[in-house]
Amino acid sequence: MQITYDPKEKLFHLYNHQISYVIGILKNGHLGDFYFGKTLTGPLCQAQFRMDQNRGLTNYIETGDFSFSLNLERLVYPCFGTTDYRPPAIDLKDSRGSRVIDFKYDSHTLYAGKKLKNGLPSMRPSKDRAMTLEIICTDAVSQATLKLFFTLFKEEAAIVKSSMLINGGASSIEINRLMSTSMDLIDHDWQWCHLYGDWIKERHVDTFPLHHGTQSIGSLRGASSSAHNPFVMLKRPSTTECAGEALGVALVYSGNFLIEGYVDSDGRTRLMAGIHPQNFAWCLEENQVFESPEALIVYSDAGTGQMSRTFHDVIRTHLIHEKWQNKNRPVLINNWEATYFDFDADKLIALAKASKKLGIELFVLDDGWFGERNDDTCGLGDWFVNTKKIPSGLGKLSEQIHAEGLQFGLWIEPEMINRGTQLYREHPDWLIGDPNRNYSHGRNQYILDFSREEVVDGIFQQLIKVLDDAQVDYIKWDMNRNMTEPFSTALPANRQGELAHRYILGVYALYEKLTDRYPNILFESCSAGGGRFDLGMLYYAPQAWTSDNTDAVERLKIQYGTSMLYPLSSMGSHVSDVPNHQVKRNTSLKMRGDVAYFGTFGYELDVLKMSDTDCEQVIQQIDFFKKYRTLIHSGDFYRLLSPYSNQTAWMVMDKEKSKGLVAWYQVLARSNASYDVLKLQGLQEQALYRITGFDTPVSGAYLMQFGLMIRPSFNGITTTSDATGDYQSRIWEIERFTKETS
Ligand code: GLA
Repeated sequence: MQITYDPKEKLFHLYNHQISYVIGILKNGHLGDFYFGKTLTGPLCQAQFRMDQNRGLTNYIETGDFSFSLNLERLVYPCFGTTDYRPPAIDLKDSRGSRVIDFKYDSHTLYAGKKLKNGLPSMRPSKDRAMTLEIICTDAVSQATLKLFFTLFKEEAAIVKSSMLINGGASSIEINRLMSTSMDLIDHDWQWCHLYGDWIKERHVDTFPLHHGTQSIGSLRGASSSAHNPFVMLKRPSTTECAGEALGVALVYSGNFLIEGYVDSDGRTRLMAGIHPQNFAWCLEENQVFESPEALIVYSDAGTGQMSRTFHDVIRTHLIHEKWQNKNRPVLINNWEATYFDFDADKLIALAKASKKLGIELFVLDDGWFGERNDDTCGLGDWFVNTKKIPSGLGKLSEQIHAEGLQFGLWIEPEMINRGTQLYREHPDWLIGDPNRNYSHGRNQYILDFSREEVVDGIFQQLIKVLDDAQVDYIKWDMNRNMTEPFSTALPANRQGELAHRYILGVYALYEKLTDRYPNILFESCSAGGGRFDLGMLYYAPQAWTSDNTDAVERLKIQYGTSMLYPLSSMGSHVSDVPNHQVKRNTSLKMRGDVAYFGTFGYELDVLKMSDTDCEQVIQQIDFFKKYRTLIHSGDFYRLLSPYSNQTAWMVMDKEKSKGLVAWYQVLARSNASYDVLKLQGLQEQALYRITGFDTPVSGAYLMQFGLMIRPSFNGITTTSDATGDYQSRIWEIERFTKETS
């Protein structure tokens, strides 16, 4: 890992054994985006990356010079208003109303490690695992300073980028856009791939070729949302899971965002990501500082699978808190689908007792334990126990659950309020909304104005009373509606554009306060399922509820899409009842388990109603998961077959390539089918492996080149014992028998 600066060539080179990022200082002082990709070697100079150009209908910077226009350059952080007409990374309005800006290189610093962001989640590599280049640029007229941060990791093919604006002038500046990253790529022979969706169908994969002009995804919902995840991958048309170039950009942010691709008439691509400029305007007074969220950028020249594995490694080692990085996550049971709002303490204890017998380790009490919460019309905001349901209180209940040998977890939705609550009677003005307009609701609830410190603190004070009194080991933090009528009665007119960002800063502040005070509580974030599954949340909560949809078939697409970026250790996945509550489908307990293993495993059903045979099977599933959870959560994940067909397959191998699990799923039975052959990945070619179904060891080369033959479950004559009909699954355990000889 090295970051070098050649003062003669005015060239920065950030490189490790996998990637290079080259930045040059152009002749007008702007920064040229010269190269991002596989490691470059040999002497580098500006002339290798750019060319003076004299082109028709072009505007040039210097009088008498017809060779240098920003519109023809590839730029690191493009400004609006001089000669570049493509979308800018930064858009400011100075006190005179001018939006023309011209940030030029001033100086730079280099240091080991990386600074944390103030009030924002950020990557946190140790000093020996990363280096940072900070480039300082200034705009002479507005007297603003722009700091650009570039962090290079020692091992991974990834960089982190962000920006910061400091107002050094005597009057305020309005920030309308300050992107976290902008990259100018030399061509547009890429496919744009993103994760779109909705409630109970999160993170489906969509891919299309880049076209001239603008293409974008984003959120204006106050949360990153299930509509679009804050992640985009560009891949070459020929790139597969195992070969070819891919470049992924993900934001470490949970609020309104924009990821925008722009292809100009020369076929160059500008890829930007940051806070969504729509309805965003930040008033920066003299000497104040504004920081953008971070963007994590990963490069792969070995396919999309490699890109995902790099994201997984970076997230697991540099984002998730070290306390949870290598800690086994408990097998949990959540009472939501077992009881919904209809429970009392006796029922909960009975469920916990039965769960313990199955091997479950954590009992989670979901929605409905507080205030007057008997359905979704009331209770949010009143964070004190509902003594009609739990007469002896949460302290006693959590003690009883612990006495059964289980950990105790609790659901909260701290950002929300229902009308009709004590909190609403005391603070009707704490809602986000415009008193001159209608307040729209979602699930009968309203959003608290977390841009206000006193609101965040009010909720914090309520929560600590609960958490100080009870033995809580886990919290599921939910957020069940998106923002409407974004107006804060506490902000002046010129600061209304700050609300959405200030809101998410308030959410982060509450996370910070709670994780500081209760460092042993494991947090799982949730937003009506996976509606705020992003890197910002993972900084505080190492796992996220992937989707309210627990149907095994639907989950194939959801977990597959989620794995593009997020590690299995972050994906909440539970076995639930049949017919499934979201799609009414019946799948076998085996298939539901075989899908849920690939995440943080748990159950969400009434164990008291299960047959003895099902209980036996659940005991075996839990034993199996416990045997493999370290491998599943720390290993390398390989996608083998896409769920956008009848069969899905994936596998996990440990880092030593010695132990793994292969999973295969088929949605619909096929008539008179032949055998299938599944090619594995991630093995050592010459090592021998024992694998379920083979009497003798076979080589890695055989399993990867020829593949694993899968017997059809039913072809009119033969029937395999394990599964027939629709919705099948198989799991193979794989273990190295002899090491590869070099
Ligand atoms: C959301 C969550 C569910 C459950 C309910 C409770 O929908 O995603 O898992 O907690 O809220 O109201």
